[in-house]
Amino acid sequence: MNKTTRGSFTGKIGFVLAAAGSAVGLGNIWRFPYLAAKYGGGIFLLVYIILAVTFGFTLMIGEIALGRKTGLSAIGAFKALNKKFSFIGYLASLIPAIILPYYSVIGGWVMKYLSVFLTGQCHSATSDEFFGNFISSVGEPVIWFLLFLTITAVVVLLGVEKGVEKVSKIMMPVLVALSVVIAVYSMFMPGALEGVKYYILPDFSKFSVTTILAAMGQLFYSMSLAMGIMITYGSYMKKDVNIESSVKQIELFDTGIAFLAGLMIIPAVFVFSGGSPEALGKGPSLMFVTLPKVFDSMMGGTVIGIAFFVLVLFAALTSSISLMETVVSILCDKLKINRRLVCGIVFIAIFLVGLPSCLGYSIWSEVKVMGMQFLDFFDFASNSVLMPIVAFFTCIFIGYVIKPKAITEEIEISAKFKREKMFNVIIKYIAPICIVLILVSSVFDALGIFKI
Ligand code: TRP
Repeated sequence: MNKTTRGSFTGKIGFVLAAAGSAVGLGNIWRFPYLAAKYGGGIFLLVYIILAVTFGFTLMIGEIALGRKTGLSAIGAFKALNKKFSFIGYLASLIPAIILPYYSVIGGWVMKYLSVFLTGQCHSATSDEFFGNFISSVGEPVIWFLLFLTITAVVVLLGVEKGVEKVSKIMMPVLVALSVVIAVYSMFMPGALEGVKYYILPDFSKFSVTTILAAMGQLFYSMSLAMGIMITYGSYMKKDVNIESSVKQIELFDTGIAFLAGLMIIPAVFVFSGGSPEALGKGPSLMFVTLPKVFDSMMGGTVIGIAFFVLVLFAALTSSISLMETVVSILCDKLKINRRLVCGIVFIAIFLVGLPSCLGYSIWSEVKVMGMQFLDFFDFASNSVLMPIVAFFTCIFIGYVIKPKAITEEIEISAKFKREKMFNVIIKYIAPICIVLILVSSVFDALGIFKI
């Protein structure tokens, strides 16, 4: 990502698709449904949507405008505007390095399922033990994880992301279409109605601070916020493109896919496993346990399953490639050493950091960090702790250091900032206060787990 390529998005559509391409990934298809299932269905969905149109909107506007204003990515952007605050950029850059290792572990799981469907073993994947047996074995998950990481690293090394992006622009719409088909099928299975109700109708008795925390972490994760990514994207944006309406479209796209993924998976949990809290609280394994059952019951399920896992794999790869690209380009800038060498070091480091997440379900299943399995711990540390911290400082930076007016000016280069008032109030008061409250309660929560 060098200076000469800045401003290379051809226009609004190019920008929106590229940003949506980064945003849509495993977060939408794998993470959102299991969180929604776990945290009470409809109430989680409602909280998520409210946060998306307030918090998410504000933060994404702020980040994109920061990037476009300075023409720099995270570290440079904060530094350029105020030297004292360059630590936010560094902190933000740490997050992709925490996410990528466990993201690649899940990417490996997706590849495993693709291979299962490709070899026509769709039916065997429907048993409840299949997934458990797979992740609790030692060698296989590591091999798939390594394979996923290798593909990612090779693409980053060869610098063919542009080609991948072109393909993903075709595949993304296909993914949407296929998701609609599967979601509709899933909704109309006998017994699915209970699940649809659980997912759509909010049950306020299930509301708690954890719901907000989980929804907020998911929002950051899913929209690639609070880690400098959107700042970088903004730096490539042309001055005449309307930031506000682009953000609305990115959010709609991202939330739409997450919503559909929930519709594919949650009603199916009710059909195949009943709506017991145990079935709903399955966590990271939910998608892998439920979807094969849906495909198995469908006509032509094997083919649909193959198509689905190919598309998910692609969405995951485009995300992992840009995560790794971020890490590599930051290190290249800082260390000033050869890109190949950096790629090699990053590859090994990510593999080593990812290994505990991968083995946390087999030989290291007894080892817990703050009461969590490794994968859950890394996920918690980045999404529920670090990202809120970065988001908090970003709000303070925009609200009190450079002032919201600076953002408004940037936005109004291309069009009137319609929700300026809402933006100002959220970025200065509501967001910082809520984030601190939520963060404190989450840390207490984690400490509580720690005591047990
Ligand atoms: N938003 C992506 C998803 O939903 C994951 C992600 C987080 C990501 N940070 C990113 C993707 C940075 C690309 C770049 O799966």
